[in-house]
Amino acid sequence: MKFGIEFLALNLLFSTGLAIPAVGKLFKRATLQDVATTGYATLNGGTTGGLGGPVVEVNNLTAWAQAVADDLPRIVVITGPITGSAQVLVGSNKSIIGKNSNAKITGIGMYILQKKNVIVRNLIISKVLAANGDGIWIQKSTNIWVDHCEIFNDQTHGKDYYDGLVDVTHAADWVTISNMYLHDHEKGSLVGHSDNNGAEDTGHLRVTYHNNHWKNVYSRGPSLRFGTGHIFNSFYDNMFECVRPRLGAQVLVESNYFVGASKPIFGDGYAVARDNAYVNCTNTNLAPLGTLTTVPYTYSLLGSAKVVASVSATAGATLTF
Ligand SMILES: *[C@@H]1O[C@H](CO)[C@@H](O)[C@H](O)[C@H]1NC(C)=O
Ligand SMILES: *[C@@H]1O[C@H](CO)[C@@H](O)[C@H](O)[C@H]1NC(C)=O
Ligand SMILES: *[C@@H]1O[C@H](CO)[C@@H](O)[C@H](O)[C@H]1NC(C)=O
Repeated sequence: MKFGIEFLALNLLFSTGLAIPAVGKLFKRATLQDVATTGYATLNGGTTGGLGGPVVEVNNLTAWAQAVADDLPRIVVITGPITGSAQVLVGSNKSIIGKNSNAKITGIGMYILQKKNVIVRNLIISKVLAANGDGIWIQKSTNIWVDHCEIFNDQTHGKDYYDGLVDVTHAADWVTISNMYLHDHEKGSLVGHSDNNGAEDTGHLRVTYHNNHWKNVYSRGPSLRFGTGHIFNSFYDNMFECVRPRLGAQVLVESNYFVGASKPIFGDGYAVARDNAYVNCTNTNLAPLGTLTTVPYTYSLLGSAKVVASVSATAGATLTF
């Protein structure tokens, strides 16, 4: 596997000229103006974040919270570590971007409530207490792209000490969650918060998860009520319960690599599963057969055999700006 990662790093270095291999990870140059190009966030008008607005650099909580509070387009670049105990409310038309691997957010959650068009990229977020919400909480909001973030806590405090890593609730829609490194946590990612919220949620909660590395997370990779989930090119690395469609939710699960899972795909919702590898898993796909066989956007499958090498090298806050 080590050889595989280094080979991939060199390959990309030579083919694009953009990548700098470092300790098994690629650090890839990206632009502050990037917009969502894959998944449900590309639909419904697309997700451009702060494109067209000014670039503002911040390195403390007060400046960060102020820079994202209104709905004017703005690209907010976090240049250094920010630690606290708080929840930052994020307005519409924002790109919130970690400049490099120094953008470590500790103890501070982000809440995107009743907003539209937000991009969050390249942040390392950890130790957000449940009182400050999820690492990233998307509620009643549309066109959200969360990409190349690392979010983690620990599994030593019990399952309600922290809440979700990135949760999507109350009829939020058109969301893409990509290239994430999600690890060391109990309740990973929840889509649809309650069995009793079908009236609001049905027909919404369309979420794409792709090229994500999940490691040492107990459950919810994601757990999805009522909505529609497309999950591909992901590496499930020692997760107990992974993809869980519930209460009529439909998921398309393809080109993933599950290792060491008890329940890779299960639930009372519906799944279509194609080309998934189940290595050292107790079960394979236990969910009833669903109807989600196509999605209304183009995307590229790695093939389950290539997921580990590719996703291990690229997931997480591996961009520089
Ligand atoms: C936070 O950063 C801003 C600049 O972005 C600066 O003006 C302000 O003094 C800083 N506040 C603290 C408490 O350091
Ligand atoms: C934010 O973007 C929305 C579309 O996403 C637009 O309708 C709205 O006017 C923008 N807000 C501001 C204050 O520019
Ligand atoms: C699967 O389990 C066996 C026995 O515990 C172990 O030797 C092997 O390394 C595991 N394979 C993977 C890919 O984790």
